[in-house]
Amino acid sequence: MPRALSPGIFVDYMANTILVGAQWGDEGKGKIIDVLTEQADVVVRTQGGNNAGHTVHIGGQKYILHLVPSGILRKNKVCVIGNGVVVDPVGLVGEIEGLRKLGIKIDRNLFLSETAHVVFPYHRELDAQRETFKGKNKIGTTKRGIGPAYGDKAARTGMRVIDLINPERFKTQLALRIKENNEVLKAFGAKPLSFKKVHEEYRAAADYLKPFVANTVILLHQALQRGDNILLEGAQGTFLDIDHGTYPFVTSSNTTAGGACTGSGIPPQRMDRVVGVMKAYTTRVGEGPFPTENAEIADMLHAMGREFGATTGRPRRCGWFDSVATRHAGMVNGIDELAVTNIDGLDSVETIKVCIAYRDGSKQYDYVPNDIEVLARCQPVYAEFPGWRTSTTQARQWKELPPKARAYLKAIAELTDARLAIASVGPGREQTIFL
Ligand code: IMP
Ligand code: MG
Repeated sequence: MPRALSPGIFVDYMANTILVGAQWGDEGKGKIIDVLTEQADVVVRTQGGNNAGHTVHIGGQKYILHLVPSGILRKNKVCVIGNGVVVDPVGLVGEIEGLRKLGIKIDRNLFLSETAHVVFPYHRELDAQRETFKGKNKIGTTKRGIGPAYGDKAARTGMRVIDLINPERFKTQLALRIKENNEVLKAFGAKPLSFKKVHEEYRAAADYLKPFVANTVILLHQALQRGDNILLEGAQGTFLDIDHGTYPFVTSSNTTAGGACTGSGIPPQRMDRVVGVMKAYTTRVGEGPFPTENAEIADMLHAMGREFGATTGRPRRCGWFDSVATRHAGMVNGIDELAVTNIDGLDSVETIKVCIAYRDGSKQYDYVPNDIEVLARCQPVYAEFPGWRTSTTQARQWKELPPKARAYLKAIAELTDARLAIASVGPGREQTIFL
């Protein structure tokens, strides 16, 4: 049966959808996920941890999600925190409690993978110590312990949710892990952690979370067999990917489409489409190269009260739209459909620039060079578009957008090499245009 996505829009095929960020994160994925969730039965987070901050506005209420999939905000959706996620259990309890206080029902609609890895206080402490140690070369992490937690996973010294909820095993393993990590912390000149304190705190969180813990790979395959529509919600963005991003100024997971498979246990041939989300301009939080960064557009957006981080509150770095980067994202993720957000952020701009190539001395690039020193040197080559200089926030249909805005959106989608499917003109669900 075709299902209504929104008035007039029908999807008549079974669609397991991977949603990814096409830039450096904060593309407005939370809002687009919320919109797409209307047609989904199951929503899955597959990578990252509570470094993510997904903001969703519904009827005047603002929700910020860090680990819980945005599907939780709609009734009768199954939400899964997949095996590829790293989970801070104390943070997750706080998040669930916070959502419950806002009247969100969380009961048999949230599942936590038993093979997801656990983030510990020593991961957070090590994250902070390494950043300080790096000095001016710091990554600008969220200090949530994400890098050290994935590091332990790869080094096979991590603990999984299945270990966390087994009291005896947990106690033995935690004692060893705290002992080892306290030696490392001492070497940094940092305060060692108290086993007793961490143990108590994590045991309490484990008891709270135990009812949510499941074999989510089996659960998701049962959903596939039923023919459920599954939405795989990506966190962060393409250029923060550990393999495809601006290493080392990246996060520690695969934020690109492939990560949705490994992070959930759903095989690639069961994925039907990839939706890439990008802003009508570009932002980045944390350090690392950002070719189109521009102080004027940053000042303008910050003065509008926009572009402050949802997790750390840091002002985001801002710049013009970079089609070299988004084309690369299209390639790596296999983006079928594009959602462009924050169009209204450009409502007052007289002349809008779009980066169409990078120049380093006499060399010109139409792709993102891997050497970040080269990328940091690159100067953007710009094309210019006339601004529409009127508010777009009230537009609900494509034809209600100013012609100059339509021309701009068509151009950036074409430069990205993907089909424009959604245009977003504000944070509200209703401020969404389907093409
Ligand atoms: P980490 O993920 O906390 O290790 O931070 C590594 C880099 O990724 C830093 O530049 C962070 O600012 C960035 N980052 C991590 N999560 C997000 C996110 O959800 N949105 C935007 N940037 C992020
Ligand atoms: Mg965010």
